[in-house]
Amino acid sequence: MGTPGYRDHPVADWDPDAPIDWREAEDFLRQYHAENPGAGDLAARLAAVYVEIVSTGTYEHTAEEVTYGAKLAWRNASRCIGRLYWRSLHVVDRRAARTPHEIYDGLIRHLEIASGIDARHDAGRRGNIRPVLTVFAPAKPGRPYARVWNDQLIRYAGYRMTDGTTVGDPAQAEFTESMELLGWKGRETPFDVLPLVIETPDHGLHMYDVPADVVIEVPLAHPEYDWFAELGLRWYAVPAIANQRLSIGGISYPLAPFNGWYMGTEIGARNLADTDRYNLLPVVGQRLGLDMSSETTLWRDRALVELNRAVLHSYARAGVRMSDHHTEAARFVEHVRREQKAGREVPADWSWIVPPMSGAATPVFHRYFHEADQRPNFYLDEDARLLARYGAARASQPQRL
Ligand code: ARG
Repeated sequence: MGTPGYRDHPVADWDPDAPIDWREAEDFLRQYHAENPGAGDLAARLAAVYVEIVSTGTYEHTAEEVTYGAKLAWRNASRCIGRLYWRSLHVVDRRAARTPHEIYDGLIRHLEIASGIDARHDAGRRGNIRPVLTVFAPAKPGRPYARVWNDQLIRYAGYRMTDGTTVGDPAQAEFTESMELLGWKGRETPFDVLPLVIETPDHGLHMYDVPADVVIEVPLAHPEYDWFAELGLRWYAVPAIANQRLSIGGISYPLAPFNGWYMGTEIGARNLADTDRYNLLPVVGQRLGLDMSSETTLWRDRALVELNRAVLHSYARAGVRMSDHHTEAARFVEHVRREQKAGREVPADWSWIVPPMSGAATPVFHRYFHEADQRPNFYLDEDARLLARYGAARASQPQRL
């Protein structure tokens, strides 16, 4: 039964029609019980799952298994620098949600819990970002499943203008165009939150606006330069990846959005700085009055530093949790130390772990990491990637990849 030798293949190729791989289920259950000695009788659980897979082609995780599996997926996410707190992941079980509205409700609750604005428990926590994963129904072999098209729950639209420029986030331009084809109309500001697209096998496509009260945003200002606020920049508080498949013990959860808090450089050194994103270094450099006539003046580097100072300053001022790359790199080194103490290697991808600015000024630059694809984990499937990039227009666009 199952795919031979899954342990030897670093790249996940998921066949949604194949029955669940018993060996992967067994590996996960053994690991779950080994790390949780109080979890009950392993032999009995293995026997029950074996019978369930043989008779139905799949099996159902207990709430404890799916919760711990999600934490392990985070612990194994080799591109994530923020894994020190993997045990603290808050897992919300929404596997019973079926209709687009039930799913939408779960996504909005996710944002509330992650943002510290959950009315039931969170008085005074607004902006105290909490790592959360909401797990929706697993895929059943050979059956269609529900999904969200968006790559994050919160994203800013990008509008291509007739003169070739883009208003908003250029990374979202094709997706935005596809939303417009589906009837959505944005305000055409640089920071319009895109609608959520929920697709279920029984109900087709449903589009929802994200209510403004669950989207915490931070207006950007600089601790010293008053003109910075005039740029009118902002970013959202919660980066919630929505289109990666959570894989636990051979079971695939195609809809399992998760978030952490931001590290400042993700915004200041990438989203706002990359030439194919908001491309703001020339704007900031000019306002700083830098000599931009030659690369050797390092005007880009100087603009980067001030942009990143503004991001960190603004989130702190707004009371929205964020970390800087020095602190987060030191935490990651601590995570590696703790894991090794527990007898485990930390799978890590150096090119993602090293921050996008001042790499060698952080400790993660100066070492090599163990590269491995360990499950449970998160995977971005090709069709999910294309949907997030192009939306409905994907079929006619693949040549533009
Ligand atoms: N880099 C992505 C962004 O800027 C978010 C990825 C997840 N980041 C995180 N801190 N959990 O939107």
